[in-house]
Amino acid sequence: MSEQDRIDALEAQDDQPVVRPEQGPSLPRRAILKGGLGAAVTGFLAAPLAGCDGGVSSSSSKPAMPAIGFTPLPVQTDMTFDRVAVPQGYTARVLFAWGDPIRMGAPAWRSDASNDWRDQLQQAGDNHDGMHFFPFDHAPNEHGLLVINHEKVALTFLHPQGPTFTRDANGRRQRPEAEVKKEQAAHGVSVIEVRKGEDGQWQRVMDSRYNRRITGMTAMTLRGPAAGTDALKTVSDPAGTTVLGTIANCAMGFTPWGTYLTCEENWPNYFVNRDRDDYRQRVAHQRYRLSQGDNSKYFAWESVDPRFDATPYPEQPHGGHVNEPNRFGWVVEIDPFDPDSTPIKRTAMGRLVRECATPSVGPDGRMAFYFGDDTRGEYLYKFVPAGRYQPDDRKANRHLLDDGTLYVGVFGDRGKGQWKPLVFGEGPLTEANGFNDQAQVLIEARRAADLLGATTMDRPEWVAVKPDNREVYVTLTNNDQRGRRDDQPINSANPRWDNQHGHILRWREQGDDPTATTFQWELFLLAGYPQTADVPANQIGTIQGDIFSSPDGLWFDPEGRLWIETDYDEDSPDHRAMGTNQLLCANPYSGEVKRFLVGPKGCEVTGITGTPDGTTLWINIQHPTLSFPASDGVTRPRSATVVITRDDGGEIGS
Ligand code: FEO
Ligand code: CA
Ligand code: CA
Ligand code: CA
Repeated sequence: MSEQDRIDALEAQDDQPVVRPEQGPSLPRRAILKGGLGAAVTGFLAAPLAGCDGGVSSSSSKPAMPAIGFTPLPVQTDMTFDRVAVPQGYTARVLFAWGDPIRMGAPAWRSDASNDWRDQLQQAGDNHDGMHFFPFDHAPNEHGLLVINHEKVALTFLHPQGPTFTRDANGRRQRPEAEVKKEQAAHGVSVIEVRKGEDGQWQRVMDSRYNRRITGMTAMTLRGPAAGTDALKTVSDPAGTTVLGTIANCAMGFTPWGTYLTCEENWPNYFVNRDRDDYRQRVAHQRYRLSQGDNSKYFAWESVDPRFDATPYPEQPHGGHVNEPNRFGWVVEIDPFDPDSTPIKRTAMGRLVRECATPSVGPDGRMAFYFGDDTRGEYLYKFVPAGRYQPDDRKANRHLLDDGTLYVGVFGDRGKGQWKPLVFGEGPLTEANGFNDQAQVLIEARRAADLLGATTMDRPEWVAVKPDNREVYVTLTNNDQRGRRDDQPINSANPRWDNQHGHILRWREQGDDPTATTFQWELFLLAGYPQTADVPANQIGTIQGDIFSSPDGLWFDPEGRLWIETDYDEDSPDHRAMGTNQLLCANPYSGEVKRFLVGPKGCEVTGITGTPDGTTLWINIQHPTLSFPASDGVTRPRSATVVITRDDGGEIGS
């Protein structure tokens, strides 16, 4: 198995045993919610949930029925397929591929991958993921900033001959520093200015002052309750307030005041703690499944960059970099409109293997940000800022994310849900249970959530909020390794034992108030095959229309159509009939699903955003394996942002 295959398999499988902290005998057993598939599926209604205020909801009184007008595509089962296909009447063009210069004068991408790390710092990062379009006021449908996450790197293609791994005398994997630096430079975020030209085609504005790369090396500030505490101090940063870089940036969010929220997902795979005894008792490491052994799981950066060696070194100030992993797993706020701004890691929002931070804003400016911890058997959360959004005072909103309440979801039977606060001193989050302050509750958010009886979920990926009534949808991508573990029980919200294909759940907050602490939930759909004689029962879904598996990216367009992106292994026997990964469009009222796009072999389809008028859609093609976007059978493949428009200039999907 190549290094790339090994890393891909690690990300897809994430199959290390779940390590829970030692819990004293006084601690409550995690709730095991009982509930059958039958009861859950009955909740699949022809209309979204009624309001939670007794069934009468003012905001749902005019149900929009978004028309889905395109002719859907068939599955693409040709495993030599190396393009993006969209329905007739639409055009998809590549706008921004790995290695493209970030601005005028930056080095061009060389097809032999011979650009070095200094070049890479000025070029598009790799593995494009979540993104958001920030329109300019003067021409919101024709001009703005596109901000794009770069989740990780395709090692095979990033370096001319693939990655170099050697072994030292102790058998530990070693890397060349120049390769590690190039990998760090290919992580992070891109900000690019885009504009519709006279010919109606979207172009990049190469001389824009906004064009910017933020990478695994960019200095950023830590703020909020955990910033400056001992648990965030390292030998490199004794103040515990400045960290280099953001990594593993998967999905994202944005704020109503025009900032971007990039989220740190699979960061534990970049760190190693070699001290087995220390690892076992250090909740901040083992509960997050950092590597234990010789090397970090992914790239062995620790062989040349000591920040990623989280082994305690007591002779060094602050134990060396044992606390460095505590400085990842956060939401990072970036102001794309100020190219000189320093990104800020917001510790009030908790430390997770975080997929996204999707906003929901009420009419009075109170709001919530929703996110999942994308690991089997982890949880769904929301963060409610203490303050309100001030539409007329951008400065007043600047640090709203530093103060608020983090909640974790409990999905009960009969569709009843509850948000439990992760607040030091409340409920079980006390010194008696090993918590000393709010900083520790946030850094060890997973353990705090365990104690609160949160509901284990089948890998929460993206969250989307329906624009007209703030109904919330989440993709639970799959969970095919429930196995013998009793820490990932089936429950009414995650009803399939062998959940190969995943599902989509939705809920309404009490009174449609984003800050409510109770909600009403139901299943929107179970992905998988339609019922036929030869499909095993555990693979049968409830999709009305085009089949898919493993929903991941999720987004509402301005008209309320729900767009679903997939991430599954098209080579596995369970998925072969699904073809290559896809983008689908669903009607949230009728449940109808139509396939809009199929991607090139090897990719996942991710990242989705559009113009306010719905006439432009951007998506990302992540880790294609043949030769996309050149699609010439020769050139190395590159992750890329794709822009989709309708040939008649109309609204996408209608
Ligand atoms: Fe990077 Fe959970 O997807
Ligand atoms: Ca994802
Ligand atoms: Ca995924
Ligand atoms: Ca991915």
